[in-house]
Amino acid sequence: MSHKGGKSNAADDVFGDYGLAFEIKTTSGDTHIMKMNTEDFFPVPTAEEFVALMRAKAQGDEAVAAFAKNSPDLRAHKAHQSARDMTLRPYEGATYNSINSFYLVDNADTRTAVRWSFVPAGEHDIVLETSPSFFLEKIRENLSRGEVAWDMVVTIANPADDILNPATPWEGDHTQFTAARLVVENAMQEEDSTCGEMNFDPLVLSDGFEPTEDPMLEARSAVYAIGVSRRLSE
Ligand code: HEM
Repeated sequence: MSHKGGKSNAADDVFGDYGLAFEIKTTSGDTHIMKMNTEDFFPVPTAEEFVALMRAKAQGDEAVAAFAKNSPDLRAHKAHQSARDMTLRPYEGATYNSINSFYLVDNADTRTAVRWSFVPAGEHDIVLETSPSFFLEKIRENLSRGEVAWDMVVTIANPADDILNPATPWEGDHTQFTAARLVVENAMQEEDSTCGEMNFDPLVLSDGFEPTEDPMLEARSAVYAIGVSRRLSE
């Protein structure tokens, strides 16, 4: 679990978007990486535009305003973000979304486009009182009181849904099903974990999953390989 957006020292008492990533070893020996964040959809449709947005952010507010002027996607994202519930939540009280679309593939090779969300299972306090290490303390407290878990809720694309553009939310009624439950058994800080060695590559998928043709997935795969190699060589 992390604060999204390269914020290694994000404040514990300020609302933020979070990331959730993990590696699964399946019973047939496959490895599967899942990596999500709490945004409902991406601010821009392509990796190229994301790079341009990051460059604008590095230049300052004026450059971002100029970018937004030419980007209806970013404007829609900003409007959505500012209308969200910004109550501070523990990591385990947040819903995490796949953002990009993937295929589920059955034995007859039929592909079904999906997105998914990890939705908190069970009751969790929404807490306004924080401490300097709120996130770790809170999850440990919740673990000592009972289960910390998420249900994996899969949303099947409707024919009109754009599966190549992660900046487009899928609206209206959709068929959804709960595919799995992720149960947390232990929480530790980064230094005591194995997260640093993980390559959070969204193209590492187990049997039955395939990437869609959304080019952002390839770009993310390349970027995370650089991330892990820099981390390991530090
Ligand atoms: C073109 C699009 C994207 C680019 C270029 C990008 C880039 C990056 C980079 C450079 C990192 C740090 C990696 C590391 O230290 O190994 C990162 C982390 C992460 N990204 Fe992405 N990302 C993109 C899209 C997404 C999307 C769509 C999601 C959610 C589904 C996502 C979820 C995460 C998560 C969970 C992390 C872990 C750390 C954190 O939360 O900041 N990213 N991303």
